[in-house]
Amino acid sequence: MIRILFIDDDPQAQKTLSMVLQEDYTVVSALTAAEGLDVLEKTDPDVVLLDINLPDRSGLDVLDEILQRPAAPATIMLTAYGEVEFVKRAIQAGAYDYLLKPYVLEQLEGTIRRAVENIALRRAYIPSADPQVMGKLIGESRVLKELKSLIGRFAAADSPVLIQGESGTGKELVARALHGLSPRKEGTFQAINCGAIPETLVEAEMFGSEKGAYTGATTRAGCFERADGGTILLDEIGELPLKAQVTLLRVLEFKELYRVGGTKAISLNLRVLSATNRDLKQEVEEGRFREDLYYRINVLFLSVPPLRSRDEDVSLLCAYFLQQQRQSNLRIHPQGLEKLLNHSWPGNIRELRNVIERAAVLSDGTEIQARDIQFS
Ligand SMILES: Nc1ncnc2c1ncn2[C@@H]1O[C@H](COP(=O)(O)OP(=O)(O)OP(=O)(O)O)[C@@H](O)[C@H]1O
Ligand SMILES: [Mg+2]
Repeated sequence: MIRILFIDDDPQAQKTLSMVLQEDYTVVSALTAAEGLDVLEKTDPDVVLLDINLPDRSGLDVLDEILQRPAAPATIMLTAYGEVEFVKRAIQAGAYDYLLKPYVLEQLEGTIRRAVENIALRRAYIPSADPQVMGKLIGESRVLKELKSLIGRFAAADSPVLIQGESGTGKELVARALHGLSPRKEGTFQAINCGAIPETLVEAEMFGSEKGAYTGATTRAGCFERADGGTILLDEIGELPLKAQVTLLRVLEFKELYRVGGTKAISLNLRVLSATNRDLKQEVEEGRFREDLYYRINVLFLSVPPLRSRDEDVSLLCAYFLQQQRQSNLRIHPQGLEKLLNHSWPGNIRELRNVIERAAVLSDGTEIQARDIQFS
């Protein structure tokens, strides 16, 4: 049976919770941090419910000790309003989730159920540096190697990742790699471009709709439901209208959604990745992006470097694109390469791919000359 350790200094809460959870779980409890760590050692629980305010030490300290264990349990923080700063630190340190007190029992049970699924998934998972997946990210520059190493580490976690980078730098490719290397890789990967959908339809696209919810609405699942069990990429999240941001925040907090016009809560189990070419922090400061949503989606952060900061990758990428176009016998004249290296690449890798494609057509079939390389 799944073991839950409940560390909270309120004996009444202990009693109620033990009673409710006893049917499905083995519940052990502790009233202080010291006792909690002692029981943790002895019982090796699967899930820990941890109050942030404990009489002897901060719950954050306890969390740190829990996370140092080799097969650390999924830890759910219990917190009161006004402790947002602590919650943020806890989630960033590796807590699985949090609940605000006073919590609703069903909500607590839902969170525990997901934590249990999650821990089972992770314990059964042996991370692999699958060359099929990582191999699609071409580049050996220092910055790209760093990025690949972070992708490998972040793939094993289940926390949300915010991917920031200029247009055409490979954000979607990075998101696909995170999914393909993760314990969810057998699930689906769904991407939704938040900037490409009219404001009135964006929520229906994300969360689905019920017939008659608005003119022309049909009963259908949105991309969150379709991604269940897998990974969703919220692309161009900076473009999401404020109203939809509110709904999204609620979905992420409760891990359940209502279709537009629907009354049935649909619970979700997926990993959320977001991508943006904007400076989201700045968007928050200027009031265009909700701060609470920003912290929800930005637990882990990846910055994808622009092409102009990694000259070493240019010729590797050229060779790769030529090979993809079945032109691998085409060479690039040194002056051509120099022209490529002197360009500032506002459209990054996508622009490079297009330039190479055009150059291959313009070339004499054996070598790409400087004049074959044209920027638009
Ligand atoms: N490191 C890389 N190796 C090989 N191909 C890459 C790499 N980075 C990007 N690409 C290719 O460049 C193109 C653009 O990548 P992608 O669509 O992932 O960029 P993006 O950052 O999402 O762009 P946008 O901001 O315009 O949405 C794609 O064809 C992708 O396969
Ligand atoms: Mg993209």
